[in-house]
Amino acid sequence: VTEPDLAGRHVVVSAGGTREPLDPVRFLGNRSSGKQGYALARTAAARGARVTLIEANTGLPDPAGVDVVRVGTAVQLREAVLKAASDADVVVMAAAVADFRPETYAAGKIKKKDGQEPEPIVLVRNPDILAEISADRPRPEQVVVGFAAETDDVLANGRTKLARKGCDLLVVNEVGERKTFGSEENEAVVLGADGSETPVPYGPKEALAETVWDLVAHRLR
Ligand code: C5P
Repeated sequence: VTEPDLAGRHVVVSAGGTREPLDPVRFLGNRSSGKQGYALARTAAARGARVTLIEANTGLPDPAGVDVVRVGTAVQLREAVLKAASDADVVVMAAAVADFRPETYAAGKIKKKDGQEPEPIVLVRNPDILAEISADRPRPEQVVVGFAAETDDVLANGRTKLARKGCDLLVVNEVGERKTFGSEENEAVVLGADGSETPVPYGPKEALAETVWDLVAHRLR
């Protein structure tokens, strides 16, 4: 039996990966499946929370009892997160947000021209939603959680990132070509701004989600 320890709480979870369009048919994207974010949304609902799930390009079916908002790009994700966060107790940024987007969008499909070199793609920075929410909390007691996928020096990079983003908890996992992306399992360490370190052994993404909610519920009390 799940304790309804998030009853009366509004939690916002972002999931999936943004796609930054180059033209009507092409985009820059990433390998995030959205499964970890969906596991967070499902488990929060089971613990009694009102859940707003902001999803980017997952193609996953809507979880029961969860409000789903669909977005495509990082800029759209930011708008949706800021709106939902205004009355949220918790914001969890599980989505893989593109750090950069193409500077220009071609209204028509970009064509290859015979005998000509391709045009370079110029990128500009996207807003850092997690850093922005952490710095400018619409409610001071709000708990903000980020995710970080690292390929090396996982813990040291995680600590630096936690401090830079200003969030309360950072879920750090090691990624590689065959690790994490699209899989049903995850292995992570949850770093707390209070110096805490909670290892979560390899297992279902649901189990990691439950650990995140345990740590969040503790901070809400
Ligand atoms: O800096 P990095 O992309 O590794 O940080 C990952 C964390 O920051 C994730 O929680 C992700 O959702 C969030 N993020 C964000 N806006 C960005 C880039 C990342 O909110 N532009």
